[in-house]
Amino acid sequence: MISLVQDYCSYYMIRFNKQPQFCRKVDDAPAKRPQTRRTRPEPVVVEKEDPDPDLPSTFTVTKLLKDNQLANCTIPAIERKPLSGLMSNMTSEKKQLVELLNQDIIRPSGVCWDDIKGLTTAKSILMESVVYPVRYPEVFTGLLEPWRGVLLHGPPGTGKTMLARVVASESGCTFFNITCSTIVNKWRGESEKIVKVLFEMASYYAPSIIFIDEVETLAAERGAGEHEASRRLKSQLLTELDGITQRDGIVFLLVNSNMPWEIDPAMLRRLEKRIYIPLPDFKTREELFETFLNSKNIELVPKVNFQELAAKTEGYSGSDVKLVCKEALMSSVRKMLPYMGGKNHTNRKDKISLSDVLTAIEKTKPVSKSLSKRHQEWQNEMGSS
Ligand SMILES: Nc1ncnc2c1ncn2[C@@H]1O[C@H](COP(=O)(O)OP(=O)(O)O)[C@@H](O)[C@H]1O
Ligand SMILES: [Mg+2]
Repeated sequence: MISLVQDYCSYYMIRFNKQPQFCRKVDDAPAKRPQTRRTRPEPVVVEKEDPDPDLPSTFTVTKLLKDNQLANCTIPAIERKPLSGLMSNMTSEKKQLVELLNQDIIRPSGVCWDDIKGLTTAKSILMESVVYPVRYPEVFTGLLEPWRGVLLHGPPGTGKTMLARVVASESGCTFFNITCSTIVNKWRGESEKIVKVLFEMASYYAPSIIFIDEVETLAAERGAGEHEASRRLKSQLLTELDGITQRDGIVFLLVNSNMPWEIDPAMLRRLEKRIYIPLPDFKTREELFETFLNSKNIELVPKVNFQELAAKTEGYSGSDVKLVCKEALMSSVRKMLPYMGGKNHTNRKDKISLSDVLTAIEKTKPVSKSLSKRHQEWQNEMGSS
């Protein structure tokens, strides 16, 4: 029933650009049945306090969905608005760019906040700066106007890209995943045109998030030896960012960086919120080991103490821990490989012992440990969270 109503709501939204109201005709003089012990209690119907003046008095308006249910079922702009609406007055060259950018829009992928271990501060800042302003735009006005640019920085493998993917899934925004290679390599001559179209499109599909991963490759400090095209691209990016507030609808810029000190100061100024994503602490590493090793296809014999593993992996990033687990699993599978024959192994269970994991830890060196200090210093000096 709910999905039927939701379908109707979305159809109505596209057709009339507002939510429909549901009505029920009430009898003039409802006959009251005599109260017997068998009579079921009347169903509780939430009646709207002030009936719609356009409706005859014999109608009552009943809210079938609660307000928050309605908010959850509103369809993202990308599903509601046809691309042709944006392209109707465009030159064919611009249309091509729109179609190209359309391929960079990410649909919700199923990852959720709980899939990310630790990083509670970063998660709550992202909720407060991206998710809530979209959900409750009426609260975030005036002085509380939402941040327009958010930077996530930290050593590689700490979950920054993953956080962005969760925001894509959970925010209900149109999410443009802009890779530097798409903009810079393919369109070197026309990069500034594509940036312009990108912001136009983001505004059309608002609320939108423009996400640029590893931004330092794109917005490195402008220097003398710089390529002319990339200089033009950067100035266009900065101009568009300044224009964000004048556009209709909310457009955020979410940016990731493994080397924030290389970002152009002019760009940095527009990234008002700078969040540090640190290496996982003891508890987070314990949770990560548990997540990766406690799978139904893996049997730990004898029982593995995750705390012991966490203690041995100080300085490892989330992706290093993942590598350790992969290596441990591989060492177990490696022993089996010569005996696998032609059988189907889909439902097999791999055995891993503590010594497999300890050997894997020995073999896997943490890549990001040395960078951690530099990020921390940069955060103390330039960060905000
Ligand atoms: N906090 C975390 N929680 C869960 N998985 C993590 C976490 N940090 C890293 N990972 C794992 O490491 C992988 C790489 O993370 P990624 O987001 O690409 O790192 P970054 O973008 O910071 O370099 C992820 O796919 C995930 O499996
Ligand atoms: Mg990344």
